[in-house]
Amino acid sequence: MRNRHIPLLLISLSLALGLAACQGKKSSSGGGDSIDSLETPTESKSGATDTAGAKAEAEQIFSSRCAACHGPQGKGDGPASAGLDPHPRNFTDDAWQKSVTDDHIEKIIVYGGAAVGRSPAMPANPDLASKTAVVAAIKDHIRELDSK
Ligand code: HEC
Repeated sequence: MRNRHIPLLLISLSLALGLAACQGKKSSSGGGDSIDSLETPTESKSGATDTAGAKAEAEQIFSSRCAACHGPQGKGDGPASAGLDPHPRNFTDDAWQKSVTDDHIEKIIVYGGAAVGRSPAMPANPDLASKTAVVAAIKDHIRELDSK
């Protein structure tokens, strides 16, 4: 049953990834792969470097701030997770992925668990409040972990 949904998820994720990658490198100058024709990059061209920069920063933040608790693969098994109750969320849990909105994920990253009715052990990151592109990219990173 649920296996039927996974390929779809994978496809949409790889489209999103492909889009980001294409924008980072060649700006659809007719590099000639089929990927270019599958997606229609419209508005985001001007923000290409921003997007790539935000993605890089997001990945760096994830490994430096989040992986200690959530684990490098987001499985909730980082070295600092042992004593925590509830446990840091396992981002690869398909049911969890479906249960939360993008907005909720972005909020808990900036304002912390206590602000959204979750465990206060999930820290706030107030310095990211103004970096919406980075927060969105962290959220995207979490969403991508679903497929791993
Ligand atoms: C000190 C450990 C710790 C760190 C560091 C940490 N988290 Fe968490 N996180 C938690 C715990 C514990 C929970 C579970 C909260 C709950 O279920 O009540 C959680 C839950 C979450 C959730 C799920 C919220 C939900 O409603 O299910 C997200 C998303 C999240 N963390 C993202 C992050 C991100 C992104 C970072 C890095 C910027 C981060 N966390 C850093 C401990 C941590």
